[in-house]
Amino acid sequence: MIAIEQQRVSEIAEDVFAGLSGQPKSLPAKLFYDAAGSDLFEQITQLPEYYLTRAETEILARRAGDICHRAGLGLTVVELGAGTAQKTRLLLQALSKRQLIVPYVPVDVCEPALREAADALERDYPAVRVRPQVSDFSDLGFLRHTRAPRLVLYIGSSIGNFDPPDALALMRRLRAELSEGDHLLLGTDLVKDRSVLVPAYDDAAGVTARFNKNVLARINRELGGQFDLDQFEHVARWNPEASRMEMYLRSRCDQAVRIAQLEMTVTFAAGELLHTENSHKYTVPGVRRMLSESGYALTHTWTDAREWYGVSLAKVV
Ligand code: AVJ
Repeated sequence: MIAIEQQRVSEIAEDVFAGLSGQPKSLPAKLFYDAAGSDLFEQITQLPEYYLTRAETEILARRAGDICHRAGLGLTVVELGAGTAQKTRLLLQALSKRQLIVPYVPVDVCEPALREAADALERDYPAVRVRPQVSDFSDLGFLRHTRAPRLVLYIGSSIGNFDPPDALALMRRLRAELSEGDHLLLGTDLVKDRSVLVPAYDDAAGVTARFNKNVLARINRELGGQFDLDQFEHVARWNPEASRMEMYLRSRCDQAVRIAQLEMTVTFAAGELLHTENSHKYTVPGVRRMLSESGYALTHTWTDAREWYGVSLAKVV
């Protein structure tokens, strides 16, 4: 138990140390999701400006039956980045009508969110058998111990956090653990006007700003950091060349921040940007290309009424 805790802390330490030693400074987006960060992300999904979750829910609510039908019978559902698995309920419900037992393997970096989701799902859906897996996808070997045919869910536009080459590499690593006939259901946010995109990542109520700054609060909590959150400003930018939203924390002044457990002092110049997240926006042909280059054949892409968001089903070939 102690060993596991220590390993987890030191993994964060290494990411933070590397990201804050580099130039330009950056932190990996996965660090957002401790219990407080997962809670803030839940709040983001309810914001009027943050259309992604509502659009995806609209699609899944309408198409769950069709999706399950196309994916086949006797499925094991594996979900990468499950979080609280709210939207997954629509699929598990549809599957419960087709299968006596629905094995469900939610995978996430956030153990509290996983445990909560597992308890709630087993209570609400008697056919669903939950086997949670704490992992950040660096090792997908656990997939070998799940029964085929699988329906792997990677929804919520989580793939948007990866640069395209890394997204392709992840799809290939996933493919290597799957078998022909398995399916992947991939949720991707779609390219649209910046007047919609920027407010989705810089909401009027300031929730996304708090979510972004939580990464500093987490370093304070877990690594003895001394970040003053008021001395950093939330920045959200649309980068059309790279087809992505970018989030930063901008230092409001020249400052030096001590991080006790890393035995390091990080200096920031006034105006200096600390990069915290990319959120890539796709086109349907772009999704098709990525999937065909990584060993899948796109079956169908469903969109919401405004065509702001896509849910794609692909078959492992
Ligand atoms: C959970 C990665 C899909 O990129 O839209 C929300 C995270 N960042 N607001 C996204 C996020 C800022 C979110 N993903």
